[in-house]
Amino acid sequence: MVASTDILRKADKEGYAVPAFNYSDIWDLQAIVEAAEEEKAVIMLSANPLVMEAFGPKMNAAIGQVVMEEAKIPVLQHLDHSFTEELCLEAIDCGFRSVMMDASKYPLEENITMVKHVVDYAHARGIIVEAELGKIRGKGIEGDFKEGEDFLVDPMECRELVERSGADSLAVGIGNAHGFYKGKPDLNFKRLKEVNDIVDVPLVLHGGTGIPAQDIRRAIEGGINKVNVGTIIHSTYMNAMRAELDSLPENPYTLDVIKPVKEKIKAVVKEWIHVCMCNNRA
Ligand code: 13P
Repeated sequence: MVASTDILRKADKEGYAVPAFNYSDIWDLQAIVEAAEEEKAVIMLSANPLVMEAFGPKMNAAIGQVVMEEAKIPVLQHLDHSFTEELCLEAIDCGFRSVMMDASKYPLEENITMVKHVVDYAHARGIIVEAELGKIRGKGIEGDFKEGEDFLVDPMECRELVERSGADSLAVGIGNAHGFYKGKPDLNFKRLKEVNDIVDVPLVLHGGTGIPAQDIRRAIEGGINKVNVGTIIHSTYMNAMRAELDSLPENPYTLDVIKPVKEKIKAVVKEWIHVCMCNNRA
């Protein structure tokens, strides 16, 4: 099993990004891992709080454990956007190898304190911790992109948070948003550079869905080493499922539906793997 501490450091050294794919169940999780194996890619499997609630931390971790042990590629299971320290600690106890303590809605001091608590617990167990600063818009399925600088990350705050909390990576708000973008995504590469110039850890780009490939590449050149991809996985899954169900007679067998659906998810995952340049890195 790949050491948690190595996965993003290697990406940083070699100039690519590890895509962290959000899964919803065993079928899209399997599609993601199969696609990554076929591309000899390095990836992360992200469980968001909804999935944690749906399956519970133990079942999520148990599935992740089998995948991390048996996959032919380096893969880490990651807890995405935990808003509490308790969930991070519980996920670590269950076997997650990477967690995100998202305290970005709190003032800087509180953010630092919460991240540091999780870091102290995680590092003693060889687990890595992601923190967040700046406002990443649109937590729902519809992204909410707005012009202006009020939501951009402050580089000095980034340095302070990383130095004082010991976080291993930092998610930055640079104009990115979760969900489908309503307008054209307009990442602020100048701000990304300002952060990367003074912060020593790999940076993370959330809201991958909808950002053009050339912008993802430019962000990777600018210091991004982890790209989160969720919405396009979920929508591909559901739309493919609808199409399959519509094309089959009444009472179809589950796997007859799932197999072609998985192929469609795999195609999307492979595209992202190439955009992130993490293929042939295993
Ligand atoms: P998208 O759903 O916009 O791809 O973003 C995923 C994400 O950032 C999860 O943390």
